Amino acid sequence: MRRIQTERILAGLLSCVGALATVTPFTVSLCPTQMIQLADQAQLPATQEYAGLGGSLGIDLSTLKSLQQQWTSNFSWTNEQAALNKYHHYTTVIEGITVHFIHQKSTRADAIPLILNHGWPGSFAELIPLITPLTTAAKTSTGKTVSFNVVVPSLPGFAFSSAPPANWTLDDTARIFNTLMTQVLGYKTYATHGTDWGSNVAYSMYDNFNTSVRAAHLLGVPFLPLSPDEFASYNITLDADEQFQEDLVLAFQASGSGYTVEQSTKPNTIGLALYDNPLGQLAWIGEKYIEWSDPRAGTPPSVLTHEHILLEVSLYFMTKSFVSSVFTYSQNTAAFKTSYSKARTDAPMLFSSFKYNFGFWTKEVISWVGNLVLYNYHDFGGHFPALDNPPALISDLREIGNYWTS
Ligand SMILES: *[C@@H]1O[C@H](CO)[C@@H](O)[C@H](O)[C@H]1NC(C)=O
Ligand SMILES: *[C@@H]1O[C@H](CO)[C@@H](O)[C@H](O)[C@H]1NC(C)=O
Ligand SMILES: *[C@@H]1O[C@H](CO)[C@@H](O)[C@H](O)[C@H]1NC(C)=O
Ligand SMILES: *[C@@H]1O[C@H](CO)[C@@H](O)[C@H](O)[C@H]1NC(C)=O
Repeated sequence: MRRIQTERILAGLLSCVGALATVTPFTVSLCPTQMIQLADQAQLPATQEYAGLGGSLGIDLSTLKSLQQQWTSNFSWTNEQAALNKYHHYTTVIEGITVHFIHQKSTRADAIPLILNHGWPGSFAELIPLITPLTTAAKTSTGKTVSFNVVVPSLPGFAFSSAPPANWTLDDTARIFNTLMTQVLGYKTYATHGTDWGSNVAYSMYDNFNTSVRAAHLLGVPFLPLSPDEFASYNITLDADEQFQEDLVLAFQASGSGYTVEQSTKPNTIGLALYDNPLGQLAWIGEKYIEWSDPRAGTPPSVLTHEHILLEVSLYFMTKSFVSSVFTYSQNTAAFKTSYSKARTDAPMLFSSFKYNFGFWTKEVISWVGNLVLYNYHDFGGHFPALDNPPALISDLREIGNYWTS
């Protein structure tokens, strides 16, 4: 009796909060004219200052020129926008922040609610290849039928979500995204997935909301990857594939992490320098897509094309979110812990490791931080698996169905 009363009161409270959080349908509608004009006017040198470097010391001039050429003469924003608008977009306001999200439902009553969290320099658009396959019923490896109600939000400060206050962290994002899933969309329990900063968000949701987050699938965790010495001190020996991934971590630290120092320490300088400069944003962001993806990018199963890079940069430029997106780094300088600890939850955790991702944690290391039930390695793919190898990522996400109980 007492419990029923409490539940009624809770339901009343929830519907009250739900009623406050109005969900408004949203259509992507941006004008590319100024962006394309500026990209067209931007001058690049006729020839490389230093030949023969390829992309080793930053984006290659001929690559940037060919991207510029494609953007100004072989890129239709009308088509890109129409493709984005095939999905159901909404906005809502949570804790004063406008949150933009796609909400695409399965037709099945037993569909698992799943939130997909992107990172930098990604966006909701990076995760679009996952949406239709995941909302469609399919079998897991053990023959269970699974489908998902998919929610793809824009992180605060990215694309159509408003910029958060200066002191905002990814834990705050996790909290408002939990509110989005539970109070705004009414899902009592759900699964969370994340890549790049989105992995930090998803892990924070997994750690902090153990009654609502009942499964997590991650591509990274908020703990610093181990050094070779640390692996040795834990008696963990790496096989050849793992050694390849560890070497990528070391190369990233030695020569691939300048952007993170800049964005953590002087975000306004890089932010304002590139604010009105679409070609500058293309160089800064495009370099990351090229560097961090599988070298076979654009060949099946990869759908990471130059057209997709231009779509991402167009979103950053036209929504004027480049500045707030880079502030994510200065707001989260303590996001990666050196001391590993287990999440406060018994919910299952699944992890996918892709060969060319520069963040690397072995199966054993991942088992320290959560209730690890599945760890899969894929030898095709990099830091943007939704684009680099969507079939592998989709198949791993479906495995959530094997462990889903609520
Ligand atoms: C890009 O060029 C190709 C080949 O010339 C053409 O078929 C296509 O329609 C062009 N696309 C856009 C968006 O301009
Ligand atoms: C963060 O800033 C907001 C104002 O933008 C303020 O209301 C809030 O108290 C601050 N939070 C912390 C933890 O400092
Ligand atoms: C690693 O192995 C050595 C030698 O077998 C042992 O003394 C040490 O305790 C081990 N360390 C860990 C962290 O398991
Ligand atoms: C959920 O988190 C709380 C607070 O950290 C903890 O007391 C509780 O044991 C956790 N529940 C599960 C099922 O892990």
